[in-house]
Amino acid sequence: MDQVSKINFRKYQPCDKAALRQIVYDTALIGESAGKFFEGQEIITDAFSLYFTDYEPDAAFVAQVNGQVVAYLIGAKDKNRAEKIFNRRIVFPLLLKALRKGAFLKSKNLGFFIRGLKDLLINGAKTPNFTREYPATFHINVQSGFRGLGIGHKLIDIFLGYLKQEHIPGVHLATMSDPAAGFFLAQGFTQLYKGKRSYFRHILHRDVPLYIFGKRL
Ligand SMILES: CC(C)(COP(=O)(O)OP(=O)(O)OC[C@H]1O[C@@H](n2cnc3c(N)ncnc32)[C@H](O)[C@@H]1OP(=O)(O)O)[C@@H](O)C(=O)NCCC(=O)NCCS
Repeated sequence: MDQVSKINFRKYQPCDKAALRQIVYDTALIGESAGKFFEGQEIITDAFSLYFTDYEPDAAFVAQVNGQVVAYLIGAKDKNRAEKIFNRRIVFPLLLKALRKGAFLKSKNLGFFIRGLKDLLINGAKTPNFTREYPATFHINVQSGFRGLGIGHKLIDIFLGYLKQEHIPGVHLATMSDPAAGFFLAQGFTQLYKGKRSYFRHILHRDVPLYIFGKRL
């Protein structure tokens, strides 16, 4: 029996939330822990995943090995709608939570916010919007130790099947990882854009690429 056949792929359920959120945190920096650039696990995990788990759980999928969630794909059928909900319902409570927990007083976080804002103004403004042709989007991460087993490939297959069933005409995603870029090309995605981001330079000692890939369905 090959390794993928021992893995259980299924829809996300609320009972997976804690395990999924742990992987979000553990992989947020191009496959490594968000702790390297941010202090405050709950806040950064809310920012990266709360919309998907709480507002669009039907578009979320997990892979389980021996009862343990080891990978997730969290998606949105309509990125513009997801952003509206994020801005209206998530941002303000999250800011309050961050203030309450003193997140803005921590120098690591301040550095991240300032660098992020600066980078967004300089490089982010040039990033094209692909939502007309490719309205859906997603994030995928596999826990370290379970990569290269075909899990990512299978999760994407399942998600694309779901989008087709929902009559969504296209999907796009962003990644800052060169190995992941090769992975998405191998899954039949087309590179739509390549830019760069500087906000992890103090940790990684280099700029990172920002790729956007798309696939028509
Ligand atoms: C990128 C990622 C989702 C791919 O999922 P996966 O289950 O490891 O990939 P699969 O086993 O289905 O496919 C393997 C392919 O992925 C590529 N790959 C990318 N990153 C990899 C990694 N860290 N380890 C192993 N393979 C990786 C390999 O090139 C491999 O190609 P090959 O089969 O031609 O050798 C997963 O490795 C991961 O989460 N990596 C770390 C975080 C990350 O980059 N996430 C993507 C953010 S958008």
